[in-house]
Amino acid sequence: MEGFVYQCSPSRVVFGQGALAQLPDEVARLGAHRALVLTTPEQRGLGERVAALLGERAAGVHDQAVMHVPIEAARAARAEAQRLGADCYVAVGGGSTIGLGKAIALGSAQPILAVPTTYAGSEATPIYGITEDRLKTTGRDPRVLPRTVLYDPELTLTLPAAISAASGMNALAHAVEALYAQDANPIISLMAEEAIRALAGALPAVVRNPVDIDARSRALHGAWLAGVCLGNVGMALHHKLCHTLGGTFNLPHAQTHAAMLPHTAHYNHAAAPQALLRAARALGGEQAADAGPLLFRLNQALGIPAALAEVGMPEAGLDEAATLACTNPYYNPRPIELAAIRALLDRAWRGEMPA
Ligand SMILES: NC(=O)c1ccc[n+]([C@@H]2O[C@H](COP(=O)([O-])OP(=O)(O)OC[C@H]3O[C@@H](n4cnc5c(N)ncnc54)[C@H](O)[C@@H]3O)[C@@H](O)[C@H]2O)c1
Repeated sequence: MEGFVYQCSPSRVVFGQGALAQLPDEVARLGAHRALVLTTPEQRGLGERVAALLGERAAGVHDQAVMHVPIEAARAARAEAQRLGADCYVAVGGGSTIGLGKAIALGSAQPILAVPTTYAGSEATPIYGITEDRLKTTGRDPRVLPRTVLYDPELTLTLPAAISAASGMNALAHAVEALYAQDANPIISLMAEEAIRALAGALPAVVRNPVDIDARSRALHGAWLAGVCLGNVGMALHHKLCHTLGGTFNLPHAQTHAAMLPHTAHYNHAAAPQALLRAARALGGEQAADAGPLLFRLNQALGIPAALAEVGMPEAGLDEAATLACTNPYYNPRPIELAAIRALLDRAWRGEMPA
């Protein structure tokens, strides 16, 4: 057995149907008295419900979270937090809202309590991202890791089927890559395998019936495990490629992950056979080479667009995307070769089965 390093993230997790009711106690547990509730304009109603639940411990509701945390949004939120004398941030929403909380905590070091309502997994990571002049900078900082996470599956019932499916595949990508990360370790690999099994089992049921609370609970459980994977081990080709595609071509985050995952998994299957075998088994397959095609079929079953072309990728940008992916060398089990990456992108752009 190979040696490894394992360090556990210091985060408290409260999971269960109706867990939101424990929010006031959890805020008190953090020693906070003035919690600023963060959310998006679309989820303002939920933000107000959360503030009402907090009563005197609520400092206000700031509903200006947007995708990729533009620096202006971060500055405005920091100013609002200061104006209201906030000593804690309750981020209620998806990765964008939690990302806004992280942008504030990066400067203030005040605690974040996250209440995730998608499957993106940001609540379980010390990774932040801020976009300035169309360039997204990401980094890791322990100050931005939410101290407490409340997972309440009831809050995901309103997430539309199509967004749930793509968000779930985004989570699945964290788990698949964790299995072959450079710093993979046995504990995170256990979580990754279980995340893949839970998500692949639950997502079709979520899409069939978005208010199936049992399926929602299993999907959220998988998303938590996948988020822990993302937060604890480094990522490889898949995340780097999606970061490039999202940043340079402004493609939608979750849908891009979903369309790319079958191809990146297949690209690595021969170089990381044990890892991809575990992924394939969790998806119902028998060998490492099954992982990519099974992920492709899962996308199909979930009604997710298979082709990058369908999520807005211009064909004329494929050369640049391949070059960008090969310019900054980073860890990947199989060497990142320009011709092979260009061919991978071509298949992904057309929505063809990985080969
Ligand atoms: N730092 C990290 O570790 C990390 C991890 C994953 C994603 N991210 C970032 O998160 C962002 C994407 O997050 P996302 O995919 O969760 O999308 P999102 O947070 O942008 O949410 C998408 C939309 O869905 C709405 N929504 C969220 N939950 C809902 C619900 N339950 N019911 C109805 N509507 C709901 C939101 O208000 C928003 O309008 C990206 O910027 C990505 O880079 C960061």
